[in-house]
Amino acid sequence: MMSKQKRIFTCSECGYKTSRWLGQCPDCQNWNSFTEEIVEGNSLKSGRRSKKLHTESLPKVIALHTVDPMSDIRIETGIDEFDRILGGGIFKDSLVLIGGEPGIGKSTLILQVADNLSKAGRKVLYISGEESPYQLKDRSKRLGLDSRNIFILNEIEMKKIESALNTIQPEILIVDSIQTVYFNEIDSIPGSVSQIREVTARLMYIAKSLGITIFIIGHITKGGVIAGPRILEHMVDTVLYFEGDRDNYFRLLRSFKNRFGPTNEIGMFEMTGAGLKEVKDISQILISNSDAQLPGVVLTSVFEGSRCLIIEIQSLVTPTSFGMPRRLSTGIDFNRFTLMVAIIEKKIHIPLQTMDVFLNVTGGLKVKEPALDLAILTAITGAFKDQKFPEPTIVLGEVGLNGEIRPVSRVEDRIRAGKRQGFNNFIVPNRNKKGLKNFNSKGLKINYVSYVSNIFQFIN
Ligand code: TYD
Ligand code: MG
Repeated sequence: MMSKQKRIFTCSECGYKTSRWLGQCPDCQNWNSFTEEIVEGNSLKSGRRSKKLHTESLPKVIALHTVDPMSDIRIETGIDEFDRILGGGIFKDSLVLIGGEPGIGKSTLILQVADNLSKAGRKVLYISGEESPYQLKDRSKRLGLDSRNIFILNEIEMKKIESALNTIQPEILIVDSIQTVYFNEIDSIPGSVSQIREVTARLMYIAKSLGITIFIIGHITKGGVIAGPRILEHMVDTVLYFEGDRDNYFRLLRSFKNRFGPTNEIGMFEMTGAGLKEVKDISQILISNSDAQLPGVVLTSVFEGSRCLIIEIQSLVTPTSFGMPRRLSTGIDFNRFTLMVAIIEKKIHIPLQTMDVFLNVTGGLKVKEPALDLAILTAITGAFKDQKFPEPTIVLGEVGLNGEIRPVSRVEDRIRAGKRQGFNNFIVPNRNKKGLKNFNSKGLKINYVSYVSNIFQFIN
């Protein structure tokens, strides 16, 4: 049967398909994300419609219980933070996506990982579609790497990459970046949805059939304009995303999806003159100054995977000079923030309607947890009233629409995390009190609150 060509439009963010161009994706709500693709006709469809099963050749089917367990199924990179978020090293033959904004440090990290692996005697093939071998060499010199077992290929056509794989026979393959690699047969530009999808599907096949562990680097922008990683998420085994401010040296690597390990674990790094370094003492980055108490600055805790971090929320409130009052939050869920502003107006009777309100989390972290509510609210009211805690105090609590304070999860862990970092004062929801009955609070000052206005006894 002749195959027919058909035009379709695909959302580059979530992969939603439609027969005509749309301004906004009905599925993921992103604007201007549709790109045109040409698909080959009906072969799949007719295959799907067929009432008979295919009987052409018998593929190899094995019983699960006869599968030999691999003995060393994980490869450790020696970079502890990286191994940890992967669940104790890279799972062999898996396909790992590392995504993040351009310039955040993806190539730097992967080169450091590659170097460690090559030192352990593993052969690495590095497909570099963005940088020349000289640029890579320059970077590796800067990072102080030796990289004897790393082979560079400056080629972006999939067929040529496959021949190189055949010749070099690496254990590890790095594709930097997925947006640059393409199949000649596909009639769209590198980085388009169809190219990315086909290349990734092929890489998945290569990983599983040849037993090669593959890292894919993918760029995403804040606005999500560039096609790619969002579609890839479904296809790969593991997705790691880089977070952090490019202007800030702190970098966070988060496991967003992991078929072979925990999700939402974070690894913490710092960008230095000699590449990414693991951060052991995170508090230095997340807390600006734990000695001096300032109005509008409130300490609280947040869970990132299994880790409980003590973080600092800062607010600034100034009179609106013109037009609509401004609301700006960096690192904190905007809806939660505006909800707290509304509760302050309604329940604490502070006229924020005529005020610009800014909110920020120190260190470039992105946090989202209801347990932060009370800290957000306290930061804003403190900034408005110019009031502060006399001593460093960790504030915990979810706030309900009527201003009531709701309990937080894992309250003991949160208090312990604060104590470990030398904090002794805590404000905790009254409804967590029962749960803390057997908690050893020796040396700690724990105050309980049940309504938002209760907070004012503690700041002045
Ligand atoms: P890079 O790894 O090229 O980012 P990506 O691959 O995600 O686009 O990182 C580039 C940035 O990192 C660049 O701004 C320079 C900085 N950098 C350092 O600060 N120190 C270093 O040792 C290296 C290699 C890069
Ligand atoms: Mg790069």
